[in-house]
Amino acid sequence: MCGIFAVVNDTSHHAARTTLEGLKKLEYRGYDSWGVAVVPTASQKSKVSAKGGSAYGRKSLKSKNQIVIKKKIGKIGEATVDDMPSGDIAIGHTRWATHGGVTDENAHPHMDCSGRFVVIHNGIVENYQELKQSLLKKKHTFHSETDTEVIAHLIEDRSKEMSVEQAVLMVFKELVGSNAIGVLDGHTGTIVACRNGSPLSIGVGKEQYFLASDVTAFLGHTQDVQFLEDGEAVVMTPSGVKLLDIASGKEKKLALTHLDWKVTDAQKGGYPHFTLKEIMEQVVTVPKTALVNRTEMETIGAMVKQSTRIVLIGCGTAAYCALASQYFFAQVGREAKSYGAYEYLPFAGFSDTKTIVFAISQSGETADTLIAARAAKKNGAYLVAVVNARVSTLERMADVVLPVGAGPEISVVSTKAFTSQLASMYLVTRMCAGKYEEAVNNVKTLGELLAGWQTKKLLGEVLDVAKLLMSQEDMYVIGKHMSYPAALEFALKIKESSYIHSEPFAAGELKHGVITLIQKGTPCFAIGASDETKLELLSSAAQLKARGGTIIGVAPYASSEFDIHIATPDAGPLTIIPNVIVGQLLGYYLGIGRGTDPDKPRNLAKSVTVK
Ligand code: AGP
Ligand code: GLU
Repeated sequence: MCGIFAVVNDTSHHAARTTLEGLKKLEYRGYDSWGVAVVPTASQKSKVSAKGGSAYGRKSLKSKNQIVIKKKIGKIGEATVDDMPSGDIAIGHTRWATHGGVTDENAHPHMDCSGRFVVIHNGIVENYQELKQSLLKKKHTFHSETDTEVIAHLIEDRSKEMSVEQAVLMVFKELVGSNAIGVLDGHTGTIVACRNGSPLSIGVGKEQYFLASDVTAFLGHTQDVQFLEDGEAVVMTPSGVKLLDIASGKEKKLALTHLDWKVTDAQKGGYPHFTLKEIMEQVVTVPKTALVNRTEMETIGAMVKQSTRIVLIGCGTAAYCALASQYFFAQVGREAKSYGAYEYLPFAGFSDTKTIVFAISQSGETADTLIAARAAKKNGAYLVAVVNARVSTLERMADVVLPVGAGPEISVVSTKAFTSQLASMYLVTRMCAGKYEEAVNNVKTLGELLAGWQTKKLLGEVLDVAKLLMSQEDMYVIGKHMSYPAALEFALKIKESSYIHSEPFAAGELKHGVITLIQKGTPCFAIGASDETKLELLSSAAQLKARGGTIIGVAPYASSEFDIHIATPDAGPLTIIPNVIVGQLLGYYLGIGRGTDPDKPRNLAKSVTVK
């Protein structure tokens, strides 16, 4: 995960500040710590070495080498780099820790022993222990516990025998794992960046150049973009940008894409948090799926008809959409198989040219999903990218893209992207069964039902339940068939937003063990739809109640088994959407009550670009 940003020839001559602004746009990628390194303009160097303080530049450096680093744990929103020297070249990083605790020392950038090189890194160097041992034998001194720091020392080591450019490429090839790195050479002001698995884009402006994990970080400066592919590197110097093939070291031609995007900063629109704003937007984003993508759905429908195997993959919330889609397909008489993308590889060998794979991802950058999609594609499978964010790696890899169109989702907790994915996959399955028009009407009707239901009254009801449950530490959520993925997502929202342990399970599984956990007063949510599951769900609710559980029904019907009932609109197979919205709201209010930041829950990142 993590966000990478760099600038060369910064026109404001305060490259550290420009980098910090870029990093703020990437914060969703990780917010354990942040760090910026700048090459100070000549006149500032003596000032810097005398100053010390918050800068972490190695103390014994000659002024020629002096790169100044500032890095800290905590959110970047409150960060400032006004105390850093001016300069035209800087790199920066927002971290989602994988190796080494969340400390100032482990924050990126990381420096070599000489102070000439600093490195920012997205990914995991899987063989870092082995590399570190060999570097320790050569008397390199380490200042962090990260896997990343070995890269800086390796470059220091290899560059004794070859050019820095060659050394970076060579070192990158030695790293095992999915990685993207940015290396700043303080002697020459050159930045070399390499990509294998983790996203990187180059912005080519009028004499100034940018590097970022996501184009949105530099779109305010330039809209001309070079997307780096796996196996490509870029060398950025004050005089220009050069694209390289990592394996051969040969130069490649730049192929810039002009992005015609408006640079609008997402606003909270009067809501206290993006999470609540995005939950409320579903009144619009869900019915919107019925108005778009008809051509794509027709193409996909035709491919599904020709396919003998349908596979659905995703991670986290998107995996629950994959599971729900498996039920959607079953309803129209097609067997599909869903996998958490992180568990797909043992089964990838079964995919072939008659397989259609739906890779579902809000960001289109989730490493596990990309790895699984790549494996299926390698065997000839047809790849559909069901994405929300645009211009992602998954999108560029796919045979056809189904953009779910929920708009920017800023909160780390996924809400509106999930329900747009669900509605889109419902429409796809109905297209395959020749029932598209009927499905379009059903999605539009759901939009009207949501508009009449997602009101202050509902918010008040959910808030009351949240107040009642605020001090609970364990909750259980049951659902059957279409309501099973609803239960999974419902429980995930509570866990993510409020840190309360909430465990979902299929209603039918209850009696096979989980029931031992139910005691007097244990909150148990029963998620239901007006379908064939109603009676069995109510029996399961009764079993929980008989053990003392407090039953909170989330369903379009009332029942005497429910101690509390949150009524949801009856939308047939689409009832999963309002049922999950209750979980989103409940997680949000429980989080607020327990003092969490619902937009940025601890330990999470919006885009998980590590395995
Ligand atoms: C959602 O609330 C999560 N934070 C997480 O499970 C997310 O859905 C998952 O990481 C997949 O992300 P993607 O949709 O961008 O691939
Ligand atoms: N593995 C590195 C670390 O833990 C980079 C993680 C990231 O991608 O943010 O510092």
